Amino acid sequence: MLLKWAGGKSWLTKNYSYIFHSKESLKKSLEGNKSIQFNNYIEPFLGSGAIFKYLKPKNGSILSDINSELICFYNCLKLDPEKLHYITAMHMQKHSKDYYYKIRANHLLEDNIERAARFLYLNRTCYNGIYRVNSKGEFNVPIGDSKRFNASIEEFKTYSEILNNASIVQQDFRESINEARKDDLIYVDPPYVTKSNERTFDMYSANQFNWKDQEELAKILEIKNKEGVHIIVSNINDKDVTNLYLKTNGWNHLALNRANVMSYNADGKKYKEILFRNF
Ligand SMILES: C[S@@+](CC[C@H](N)C(=O)[O-])C[C@H]1O[C@@H](n2cnc3c(N)ncnc32)[C@H](O)[C@@H]1O
Repeated sequence: MLLKWAGGKSWLTKNYSYIFHSKESLKKSLEGNKSIQFNNYIEPFLGSGAIFKYLKPKNGSILSDINSELICFYNCLKLDPEKLHYITAMHMQKHSKDYYYKIRANHLLEDNIERAARFLYLNRTCYNGIYRVNSKGEFNVPIGDSKRFNASIEEFKTYSEILNNASIVQQDFRESINEARKDDLIYVDPPYVTKSNERTFDMYSANQFNWKDQEELAKILEIKNKEGVHIIVSNINDKDVTNLYLKTNGWNHLALNRANVMSYNADGKKYKEILFRNF
């Protein structure tokens, strides 16, 4: 993956890839066709895009996130992977503590490729790959231990090709989900907040995702469920969250034996993860 992202789902594609297979396509998947059959693909909480990269959708995709710097990065990766690679490599060559804080302070870059390269450089060298901003929307994560980022130009170009059919937009999840039609696939991976702890972890943007958003998300997905859209949801295994999906018929769930690194319940224990699927 080019980006490190809090809550990134590479592990899901490695350990639980079968959840992306429908009963009908399972035979095909054994013959090398990895994904379920669907028309367009929609991922409204994109982050590092681990699921998109795994599925490599053949038709159109809508990839979106509320984070404008992240979206600028993906659009630049799609349109000019070579230049993005070049400028990022320049940053990496000059990397030091002073250089990191100098680049971090440059909040007002106008050129999109410069913005995207700054975003990627900071992402790879900041503390734990966290994206956190202050109330003015300025990135404020301290430097981390990582000093290397050696992704090759081929890796950038390959990613750019996968993005070729994707529309990459900065928008709220409601808008992207509304665009889903019958037989499309939506993969949803919201920030993990619960009714009792809305501050569990959301440091992805200046706007906080809260419990009301969790409730609205489940309601919109239920509408799309009735319209015949295929839906997969990642979330935390908390009773209020589970109630949002399992109170209506037709949803399956799979409790995962994986503790979420960032979400703690009222007793200070890590939440485990859960998947909901409507097929
Ligand atoms: C758990 S992360 C997604 C991780 C992703 N699945 C991956 O593999 O890296 C949640 C994402 O939701 C985004 N987000 C938060 N609030 C949002 C909103 N209202 N609409 C759309 N995206 C939002 C954050 O910027 C963050 O990238």
